[in-house]
Amino acid sequence: MSVAEVPSRPARASAHTADVTVVGGAGHVGVPLVLSFAASGLKVNVNDINHEHLATLKAGRLPFIEHGAQALLTQALADKRLVFTSKPSEISPKGPVIVTIGTPVDEFLNPERRVIQNCIDGFLPHLRDDQLLVLRSTLYPGTSDWVDAHLRQHGRKLKVAFCPERIAQGFGIDELRKMPQIISGTTPEAEEEAAKLFRAIVPEIVVVKPVEAEFAKLFNNAYRYIEFAITNQFYLIAKSAGLDYHQILRAMKHNYPRAQNIPTPGFAAGPCLVKDTMQLLAFARNEFGLGNAAILVNEGLALHVISDLRRSYDLTNMTVGLLGMAFKAEIDDVRASLSYKFKKTLASYARAVLTTDPFVTTDPELLPLDDVVARSDLLILCTPHRCYKSADFAGKPVVDVWGFLENASVIS
Ligand SMILES: NC(=O)c1ccc[n+]([C@@H]2O[C@H](COP(=O)([O-])OP(=O)(O)OC[C@H]3O[C@@H](n4cnc5c(N)ncnc54)[C@H](O)[C@@H]3O)[C@@H](O)[C@H]2O)c1
Repeated sequence: MSVAEVPSRPARASAHTADVTVVGGAGHVGVPLVLSFAASGLKVNVNDINHEHLATLKAGRLPFIEHGAQALLTQALADKRLVFTSKPSEISPKGPVIVTIGTPVDEFLNPERRVIQNCIDGFLPHLRDDQLLVLRSTLYPGTSDWVDAHLRQHGRKLKVAFCPERIAQGFGIDELRKMPQIISGTTPEAEEEAAKLFRAIVPEIVVVKPVEAEFAKLFNNAYRYIEFAITNQFYLIAKSAGLDYHQILRAMKHNYPRAQNIPTPGFAAGPCLVKDTMQLLAFARNEFGLGNAAILVNEGLALHVISDLRRSYDLTNMTVGLLGMAFKAEIDDVRASLSYKFKKTLASYARAVLTTDPFVTTDPELLPLDDVVARSDLLILCTPHRCYKSADFAGKPVVDVWGFLENASVIS
């Protein structure tokens, strides 16, 4: 083979040559975004302070379940489209910088703007004024305009955009390809540049003002959370009347178009829905009555189930097994999972509480399903992972709020 015939190797991405930087790029929002940009042909700087997740990605593995991501990661590494960095000084001084870090509420359930401020202040000295700064984390209303004003006060001229992420966790690769992206910018230039960036990976964009985009994201999540609360409240009302809500729900939905979106009852949890409802609650001076009620119902459902069990069983002489510790089905993330609220509360009443999950890898107390079934007197389906549909529960009673199991001795 002559020199001219040797296939040219793709040039390795470096922090300086990357087309785009994703700060928080090793997180749940960051990973599908990084891989989607890489699949579109861009070189991506994955900037994150979580060294363990960076090393895992670099080794070609995913740090958590993200459906459809493995093939894209393998390809992106083979194409040398990813560079992994962990310091603010390593953020690329060219191309857009997208921020996807966590935006929690504080101990008073109020938003924590400092988290965003500290992150931006940390990398600002390393950015150039012609760069686009895209905020993608879920933000308390007014934060994007505040960031813009904060930069101007410090004599900086970066373009600021807010483009919220709305994926369902674990399914981001597929959803990014299919869902419209909300775009907003504090200036027409920022808006235009952000739209151009996202057009490469999403099918459609919707343009609004930054504060409208902030509300759109929070309203989307609070609406979903309230939907769960409605069905959970109906479940509790039907139960107090001695009825099986799943029969009623079946009748409500059967060929009736206006009821198709009613979810099944269940434990509505996770790091986003309740936290974002709390952000709106804080914005509305605690006068977001529906949001407040939704938190009471959804968080209270687990306690209702435990009260019912205490009335029906002598829990002090029983071992209770919890099926599923992830906050929702088919993923491995335990953040804000109600399964742990069960575990903690039941520990005061039951002889023992055992836990199992087919996906979670971060909890050393988890046991194999067979052990939990064999040693428990009573089981609670906390997370409706698909594998439980066909599991053998050895005739043990299973509490199934979800109406998910068909062949078990179900208490619904
Ligand atoms: N998880 C979801 O499905 C989802 C969906 C839509 C929106 N959101 C929102 O997106 C944001 C991120 O959520 P997430 O679930 O991806 O959180 P996450 O904790 O999984 O990811 C955040 C990442 O940011 C990194 N990080 C934190 N501070 C950093 C810093 N200063 N510099 C570099 N990296 C830093 C963390 O190490 C982590 O890897 C939140 O605002 C959340 O509400 C999440």
